[in-house]
Amino acid sequence: METVERKKRIFSGIQPSGHITIGNYIGALKNWVKLQDEYDCAYCVVDMHAITVRQTPADLRKRCLDFLTQYIACGLDPQKNIMFMQSHNPAHAELAWILMCNSYMGELSRMTQFKDKTKNKQNESIGAGLFTYPVLMAADILLYGTDLVPVGIDQMQHLELARDLAIRFNNYYGETFTVPEGYLSKTGAKIMSLQEPTKKMSKSDENPKAYITITDEPDLIVKKIKSAVTDSDMCICRGEGKEGIENLMSIMGAITGKTFEEIEKEYQGKNYGVFKSDVAECVVEELRPVRERYLQLQSDKAYLEQVYKAGAEKAQLASRKILRKVYKKVGFIEK
Ligand code: AMP
Ligand code: TRP
Repeated sequence: METVERKKRIFSGIQPSGHITIGNYIGALKNWVKLQDEYDCAYCVVDMHAITVRQTPADLRKRCLDFLTQYIACGLDPQKNIMFMQSHNPAHAELAWILMCNSYMGELSRMTQFKDKTKNKQNESIGAGLFTYPVLMAADILLYGTDLVPVGIDQMQHLELARDLAIRFNNYYGETFTVPEGYLSKTGAKIMSLQEPTKKMSKSDENPKAYITITDEPDLIVKKIKSAVTDSDMCICRGEGKEGIENLMSIMGAITGKTFEEIEKEYQGKNYGVFKSDVAECVVEELRPVRERYLQLQSDKAYLEQVYKAGAEKAQLASRKILRKVYKKVGFIEK
């Protein structure tokens, strides 16, 4: 019998905190858009992960919708992908519980993100949600029989845990989960802060000059790039102490497809002012259509609601089978 090969499945999500930056765009969204034609993709706004740290409810609600709007503005097509709010599919929380019962305190304590987020804090003030965060992420992934997970390098340890949990469950209960692979994009450079270029550009940085959001106005983008921290040397090249320039080169490279070597050659003998203007121009042009679509979509609340409602239904349908299988395997009575 001929077997019809199914498309590989992809799952990814961004936590609705702060603002979507050019780092998220280059490291995640731009690739997601490329993947949507080749794979069956689910892209989620992980609101349940967001509440692992205190949120102001009204702001969170606004931000969740805003993130979905920005996913679409970047070019993700709600017809082609499952696009939804994590909390709209209860199966995520349900599977997370089962996986939690199969996770160890030890392995969760070794997660670097947990260690970073709880540094200098007393146990009494560390939320348990921060600790179990990666288990919920594993549930997100395993629930859809995901083959590939496009994330930045900073999330690889979490992905490794998802793999471990899948393998452990399969070994104990029998084949249940697809063991997912990480998918690091080739262009997905790690974009650094414009103000402290040895630190990752973070969407929750206190200093807005440290990041460019994907909906920043062109003038603001130019200003932020002009004031990006560089060095007093005059060479547009990589090297010790040149993280600022290297970061601007990565941004330009990720957008234009040029390699470091090509950029170095092109800007030999040119000054930082010229280079920064060119970087700014390519960022502005790359983000111009994103911003335009965003402004248009933002006012169409009815459409957005229709997208996330349809997304929730598709997500529930796509995950039903696996959750049912898991419930059966662990020994729950079928209802
Ligand atoms: P986060 O902003 O940490 O919620 O990350 C959401 C997604 O964007 C993940 O896939 C990250 O790896 C990616 N990402 C976040 N910040 C950056 C950055 N500065 N450079 C490249 N990718 C990033
Ligand atoms: N933890 C991820 C981040 O901070 C977000 C996330 C939650 C995620 N669930 C996921 C990413 C599932 C990929 C797959 O970037």
